[in-house]
Amino acid sequence: MTFGPSFEDSTLTRTVDAAVSAIRATEDRVPAVAMVLGSGLGALADALDDAQEWPTQDLPGYPASTVEGHAGRVLIGTLEGVTVLVIRGRLHYYEGHSIRSTTFPIRLAYALGARKLLVTNAAGGINRRFRPGTLMFITDHLNLGWTNPLIGPNSGEGPRFPDMSNPYDADWLAKAEEKALELGIATERGVYLWTQGPSYETKAEIRFFERIGADAVGMSTVPEVIEAVYLGMKVLGVSTITNHAAGIVPGELNHEEVMEVGAMVRTQLERLVRGVLEV
Ligand code: HPA
Repeated sequence: MTFGPSFEDSTLTRTVDAAVSAIRATEDRVPAVAMVLGSGLGALADALDDAQEWPTQDLPGYPASTVEGHAGRVLIGTLEGVTVLVIRGRLHYYEGHSIRSTTFPIRLAYALGARKLLVTNAAGGINRRFRPGTLMFITDHLNLGWTNPLIGPNSGEGPRFPDMSNPYDADWLAKAEEKALELGIATERGVYLWTQGPSYETKAEIRFFERIGADAVGMSTVPEVIEAVYLGMKVLGVSTITNHAAGIVPGELNHEEVMEVGAMVRTQLERLVRGVLEV
C-alpha cells in the first residue's frame, strides 16, 4: 500500500469503467442522486425499495476497505420515489488510500449518471453555539488536508482549474432548509474544515481553526466534494456535530462518544435526508 500521493496513484489507473460494467450487467436504472452516508446512516441503505446491491469487493477497481468487519456496499434503489445510488464504503485518506482513490465512489456515481451528490458526515463542533447532536448544513469548506483528489493529469471531464467559489448548491440548500423547517428539525449552517486525521485535533489547532472561520471539523467529505464539483455535480452536505471539538469544553475526545451521539440523532438525520431528496 502506498501512503501519500505518488505518480502511480495520481495517474488515471483507477478508472471506474470496469465497476460501471459490473453494475450495468444487471441494472439499468440511472440514479438521480448519489448519497455518501457517514457511519451512522447504514439503516437508510436498508430502507431502499427495490434495491440491488454490490459488495465493493465485487466491483473491479473499487479500493479495498481497510475498516475491519465493514465491507463496503454500493446500492441502487428507490427512496421517497427518487432513484438513488447509496455508497456505504466511504474511503478516508487516513486509511492509507491515495487521495485519488478516496474519490473513486464519486467518479463511479457520476459515470452511472448521478448529477446530484448528498454527503453526510460526523464532525466536531467548533462553533460555540453547536451542541452534540446539532445538524449542520455545510455552506463552504476549508481544505486543511493540504492535498487534492484532482492532482495528476486532467481526465478532461472537467476543467483543469475548477472554480470552488460555490461548491455547495445554494438552491438545494435553501430548499433543504425549508424542508427541515416543515419537518420540525432544527438545523444550523456552517463551514466544514477537513483534516487528514486520524488523530483528533489539539486544542491549539482548534483555536486556529476557529480563528480562520471553521464551524466544524472532520476527516472526510472535502475530497469528495472537490471531485463532484469538478464533474459538475450539485452538492448538498450535512454534518452531524457529534462532540465539541478539542478544548471547546473541558474533557477528552473519544470515538465511542462520537458514535453514540451519531446514533442518538440518527432518526432525525434519516428524516432530513429523506426530506431533502424530494426537493
Ligand atoms: N474532529 C475530527 N473529526 C471528527 C470529530 C472531531 O472532533 N468528531 C467527529 N469526527
